[in-house]
Amino acid sequence: MMSETRKITFKIKRFNPAVDLEPFWDTFELDCNEGTTVLIAVQEIIAKHDGSIAMRYNCRAGVCGSCAVLVNNKYRLACETLVLQLNKKEIKLEPLPFLPVIKDLVVDMEPFYEKLHAIEPFLIRDHSKDPETELIQSPEDFKIIEEATKCILCGSCHSACVSVWTDKNYLGPGALLKAFRFTADTRDENTKERVNRVTAEDGVFRCHTAFNCVEACPKELNPTEAIQALKRRSAKQALKFWSR
Ligand code: F3S
Repeated sequence: MMSETRKITFKIKRFNPAVDLEPFWDTFELDCNEGTTVLIAVQEIIAKHDGSIAMRYNCRAGVCGSCAVLVNNKYRLACETLVLQLNKKEIKLEPLPFLPVIKDLVVDMEPFYEKLHAIEPFLIRDHSKDPETELIQSPEDFKIIEEATKCILCGSCHSACVSVWTDKNYLGPGALLKAFRFTADTRDENTKERVNRVTAEDGVFRCHTAFNCVEACPKELNPTEAIQALKRRSAKQALKFWSR
C-alpha cells in the first residue's frame, strides 16, 4: 500500500536572546508521510534547510519529556505527535510559554526544576529499618499513586499554570503532583513534613483550580486532583493537631 505524503508548511518561532531583539517566525515546507512526527519534521528541517534551529529532544518515545513544545497553540510532545494526524496544512511551533527562552524551541527548565527540588521528589524513610528483601507495596496502595508516577516532568503544566504566571514563588502543578505521589506513597515516612511543606505560603492554596495544567498535560494526568487531595490531607492533619 502506498503511504500518503502531503506538503506541510511549518512556522517555527525563532529567538536567540544573544543576538535578536524580538522573536520572529521562519517558514519551511516539508513533505510529510504518515510516520512523520513533529520531532522528525524539525530534524529534517534542521538537516535540509537550517542547521541553526535549536530544539531539545532525547528519548523519541514520549518518556523523557524533553521535547514538549506548543504545536498550533497546544502543549504536545513533539516525538509523539504525528504531523498528518493534526490535519492542518500549516503547523506553528513555539517554545513552552512563560519559561525563559534559551534559543528557538529550547527553554530554560530551571524555574520548574527548582520547585521540583523543593518538594524532595524521592522516598524519605529510615533505611536502617528496611527489610532485607524488596520494600513491598500492595497493588491497592500502588493504585493510589499510579497516575502520578506517570509524570515525565516535561514542564507543560508548570508553563500553562496561571498561578505560576502571576506568582513566581508558587510551587506549581508539576511539583505538587510529585509531592502528592510521595505523600501518598505507603513506603514514605515523611508525610507530615511533606504536607507542612506543600501547605506553606507558596503551596497548594495558591492554586485557583484553573485546570490549565490538566488541559496542558500531554500524558493526560490530573495535577488539579492531586492538589485537591493534598489540600484535604492538610485539613485532616490540622484537625488532628487541634483535636489533641
Ligand atoms: Fe494552576 Fe492547575 Fe491550579 S493550572 S491554578 S495548578 S488547577
